[in-house]
Formats: sequence, C-alpha cells, structure tokens
Amino acid sequence: MINIPKKMLALRLIKYRHPFVKDTIPVPQINDNEVLVSIRASSLNPIDYTIQSGKVKIIMPYKLPITVGNDFSGTVVRVGKKVTKFKLDDQVYGRPDDFQSGTLTEFIAINENDIAKTPRNLSLTDASAVPLTGLTSYQALIEIGKLKKGQKVFIQAGSGGVGTMAIQIAKAVGAYVATTTSKKNFDLVRSLGADQVIDYHTTDFSEVLKNYDLAFDTQGGKTLSKTFKILKPGGKLVTVNGIPTFKFGAQHHLGLLKSILFGIASSPLKLLAKKYHVEYTFFIMHPSGRQLDLLTNMIENHELKPIVDRVFPFSEVFEGFKLLESHHATGKVIIEMK
Ligand SMILES: NC(=O)c1ccc[n+]([C@@H]2O[C@H](COP(=O)([O-])OP(=O)(O)OC[C@H]3O[C@@H](n4cnc5c(N)ncnc54)[C@H](OP(=O)(O)O)[C@@H]3O)[C@@H](O)[C@H]2O)c1
Repeated sequence: MINIPKKMLALRLIKYRHPFVKDTIPVPQINDNEVLVSIRASSLNPIDYTIQSGKVKIIMPYKLPITVGNDFSGTVVRVGKKVTKFKLDDQVYGRPDDFQSGTLTEFIAINENDIAKTPRNLSLTDASAVPLTGLTSYQALIEIGKLKKGQKVFIQAGSGGVGTMAIQIAKAVGAYVATTTSKKNFDLVRSLGADQVIDYHTTDFSEVLKNYDLAFDTQGGKTLSKTFKILKPGGKLVTVNGIPTFKFGAQHHLGLLKSILFGIASSPLKLLAKKYHVEYTFFIMHPSGRQLDLLTNMIENHELKPIVDRVFPFSEVFEGFKLLESHHATGKVIIEMK
C-alpha cells in the first residue's frame, strides 16, 4: 500500500505557445465512478505539442492551465464507491477523456470506463505506449474503416507511434497492408507484417498503389489529397490529420458557425471524395476501456506489441519531447514517472 501524498509533480501548460513547465499541484480527489492511479509511465504524443501550439483550440478548447499528456499506465491506489471493474493494486492503462487531467504527473483520477487492465506479457512502462495510438488505430481501421479480411489497406507512416500499431491491427484482421516509411525502417515495418513498403523519400505512393479498400492517413495536407486516387470506388479514406467536416462539428457539438466553417474548409476534400466515389472521414480518437480490453487480448495473443523508441526519466522529459518533435521517432517515446 503506497502512501498517497497531498501534492504531486506535474508537467503543465500555463499559456498557449509557451514552453511546458514543471510544477507541484494537488493530488486529485476521485468521485464514486473513478479510481486513483499511481502513474508509472506516460507516453508522449504529437497532440501534446499540438495543443501547446494553440492550433487545435477551435476543436479542443482547453481552459489553461492543464497538465500535459494523454497516455498512462500505473497501479490503482484508491477505488471509488461505485467502481465495479477494478480493485486496489490492479495494473491499468488508459487515455483520459478530453479535458480531463493529463498524464505527465504522479497520480490521475479516471473513470473506470476509460481504462483496462494491462497485458500480462508487457512491462508496466511499455504498456503506457499502447492506449492513444492503439485506440486511434483500432477506431480508424475497425470502428470507422470496417476493415475486413482480404481487403487492401494503405497505412501512412508505418514506423510512427500510430503506424506501428495500425499495421499490426490490420494484419490481425487479415488485410493486405501497404505502408510508407524511410529505408532505415523497412525491416521493422516488414517484421510487423507490412506486405508492401514504400520509401516516401524516393517514391510517390499515389503513383504505385491502386484499388485500395481503405486508406488511413496521418499526414494531412498534400499527402492526404493525393490519397483519394489510390482508392477503389466505394473505398474509405479515414484521416486523423485532415480537415474536420460539417458532420464532425455537429457530432462534437462545436456550434453551427464552426460546423459551417469546417464544411467550407473541407469542401475541396469533399469534392475529391465525390470525384473518386469514396467516403472521407476526419476523426479524433476517443477513450474506451472496452476497446482497450480488446487490445489487451491482442497483445496477450501475440498479435500486437508496442514499438518503443526510447524511455526517458521525468527529469529528462524535455529531451523526450525533442525526439518526438523531430517527427522521426520509431514507435513511441515514453516518460517514466517512477
Ligand atoms: N486525431 C487523432 O485522434 C489523432 C490521434 C493520433 C495521432 N494523430 C496524428 O497523427 C500523426 C501521427 O502520429 P504519430 O504518433 O504516429 O507520430 P510520430 O510517431 O511522431 O510519427 C513519426 C514517424 O513518422 C514517419 N514519417 C515522418 N514523415 C513521414 C512522411 N512524409 N511519410 C511517411 N512517414 C513519415 C517517421 O518515419 P521516418 O523516420 O522514416 O521519417 C517516424 O517514424 C500526428 O500528426 C498526430 O497528431 C491524431
């Protein structure tokens, strides 16, 4: 039984476009449906510095200050009165809901529906690499993309945090997978199951791939626009880095004005979708303890494993962000809190 202090160390964002700062804040209280988790590790994600830049304020209007971080693993140290799925000392992982407290800290209060038990065959530190990228990939390929055995899927940036998970999930479904990366990562993505690997430095994927059922874009911009033409009529293009649509604004209750603006901004992409007869979806991943349970099973069945580039202690968290912001990390960057 650990001694729970009143205060904890945390990495905080105080002002948009300002550097993160280390601070001491109160350990959170839990409500009846939450557990308090003592955090072992938290993995970094591009969304951490994207929020810092203020660029996603329009779709994620955070009220600052906030604790940074979107992925964690740790041990349950307090259990709310109505919690049924977890008990003291359970090892769990998760991605907190938007606007909940962050994960680059020592403790987190989290709803039991947003977490799952960690896989038995994974260290608690490595488990922190799974939730955000695993859920994003599962939701893109299965929940939205409805990927089926025998279909062809193109996954951008197969060596990234998302790509390394997505390749494995697509292979577990029984799909044929094409991906892009640099030569140095060919062996890695092939070992994860990629059937066709394209060096994005030398070859334009849109010139060599055709008749795909599904494309999962993580790059946005021109790369996203070029992706439509590799799909067969009736195919799907799912992006986590594109332009939100009117439907996205409405579904996320962002108001009529923002939804109309999204509708206008995404109209060139909607036109491409019409031209190629494909479905275009932009989405932001959501937490799900139920889907994390499925990922735990896949990891325990050796169908999925996180790829970890480097683990840093919290004292070197800014070094960790440097590696992530290089856009060339291979798999995940993890920060150990203890
Ligand atoms: N909307 C959402 O819910 C959501 C969720 C998760 C992620 N995302 C977004 O998805 C993107 C990817 O996230 P991530 O965690 O996978 O990032 P990441 O781990 O930082 O991606 C790094 C990887 O990208 C590869 N890469 C860089 N440029 C490339 C290019 N032009 N073509 C192909 N590969 C390239 C690099 O390979 P090399 O070293 O070989 O260049 C590296 O391995 C980010 O923009 C993130 O914000 C959005």
